[in-house]
Amino acid sequence: MKIQSICCLGAGYVGGPTMAMIAAKCPDIQVTVADLNEARIAAWNSDTLPVYEPGLDAIVASAVGKNLHFTTDIRSAIAAADLIFVSVGTPTKSYGIGAGRAADLRYIESAARLIAEVSEGHKIIVEKSTIPVKTATAIKSILAANSPHGATFQVLSNPEFLAEGTAVEDLECPDRILIGGETTPEGHAAVEALASVYAKWIPRDRILTTNLWSSELSKLVANAFLAQRISSINSISALCEATGADVDEVARAIGMDSRIGPKFLKASVGFGGSCFQKDILNLVYLCESFNLPHVSEYWRQVVHLNDWQKSRFVEKIVRTLYNTVNGKRIAILGFAFKKDTNDTRESPAIQVCRDLLHERAHLAIYDPRVSAENIREDLMIAGVPRELIESNVEVCSDAYAATENAHAIATLTEWDEFRALDLARIFELMLKPAFVFDGRGILSLDSLKAHGFDAFAIGKGF
Ligand code: UDX
Ligand code: ADP
Repeated sequence: MKIQSICCLGAGYVGGPTMAMIAAKCPDIQVTVADLNEARIAAWNSDTLPVYEPGLDAIVASAVGKNLHFTTDIRSAIAAADLIFVSVGTPTKSYGIGAGRAADLRYIESAARLIAEVSEGHKIIVEKSTIPVKTATAIKSILAANSPHGATFQVLSNPEFLAEGTAVEDLECPDRILIGGETTPEGHAAVEALASVYAKWIPRDRILTTNLWSSELSKLVANAFLAQRISSINSISALCEATGADVDEVARAIGMDSRIGPKFLKASVGFGGSCFQKDILNLVYLCESFNLPHVSEYWRQVVHLNDWQKSRFVEKIVRTLYNTVNGKRIAILGFAFKKDTNDTRESPAIQVCRDLLHERAHLAIYDPRVSAENIREDLMIAGVPRELIESNVEVCSDAYAATENAHAIATLTEWDEFRALDLARIFELMLKPAFVFDGRGILSLDSLKAHGFDAFAIGKGF
């Protein structure tokens, strides 16, 4: 089966960039990205894309209007497609059974019901969203039970491993593409049809095929292992602060062991992003459901440690500032969950700012890509009362405005521009003693000290 027309339900951080890359690499395939959210689609069709990713503008511009289309006409997009990616959100359930752990699959289910209702002929349905193991089976049964026009379907799992901030590079040159399908001749044919799309620019030996459940589970496990490395090094950061060891030196020393490897060993205020916590909780819930309490407890600790890392950072600030931050101005540098993205989902900055606001601090927040509206909304959703946000949060247009008259600075995102700050100027602007709490290990402690700051860094202490 040769794929001529692709549709993707969901124009988010995954669906938008992934489809733009497929369109750019496969000029002979029509790619339509469909979303319920009109504002988001309008933004994809404008000069200001809803997702900030280095290099993405050029990829979208190269294909949009030719073979890449963004629309809210979901039905027509489904009807025209040979292959449909489902890339809708799968947030953690906040209610009922599995609340706080299980994935909320209502968007997946309604997408599947609409596909069933609209489709004719044969279509390949591809799970792109991160989902619990066995979701493909649920999608299959919804499709089979609700197809008025007698359409037939093959369901594949094709999890996306791109990381935000490097999405374009990751899509262009991925470590691997994983495709899971049914182990039947029809299943193999569907897997091959999708593999041949990726093979237009990705070497065949990087396209891995497995059964459906291995593919679904691998995505959760990859994220759990990555997050586990960060929690492991963050646990050691506390020990480094207590003993005088330097966490970066320890990370370098262990990372040179080729069995361990150097990546994902940067101690920080905590990991964020839409995937890590959600996927681990998903794994935890899955293990609970299969009566594997030892396994679920093991992975749950990765999230516990991450929460503790964020709260001990706040505690460090409060204790250092003479046990009170009430009325004190604290400059928050960075609000996104990592550099080079405007995404703030599960950003450690949200919890740190929330806790500092509960201590009645005045926050002067600056992030180069996150809007003031987004910051205020995140704090509100995190439970900070509106009046407290109005009275105690100022969103600034640069780092110097944020640090003026501040008692302390907390760096919460590793934006490159923070590495190049004029420290002499900032020291002049701040109240004394001028405290710096580097939650990302991006500022040189020696240089900060030489400029007169009292500086603390995760895993290095004062
Ligand atoms: C992650 C996975 O990397 C990706 O494969 C998957 O598809 C989606 O989830 P993402 O969340 O976009 O990607 O970014 P990632 O680079 O993994 O960073 C996640 C968080 O961990 C960020 O908050 C980052 O700052 C933090 N981090 C990362 C560390 O604190 N230390 C590190 O060494 C690496
Ligand atoms: P991700 O980071 O996984 O891409 P996002 O939350 O950024 O997740 O994007 C998911 C998108 O899916 C949202 O823009 C949402 O409006 C869209 N969406 C949800 N349900 C449907 C649906 N049934 N059909 C099309 N789009 C949908």
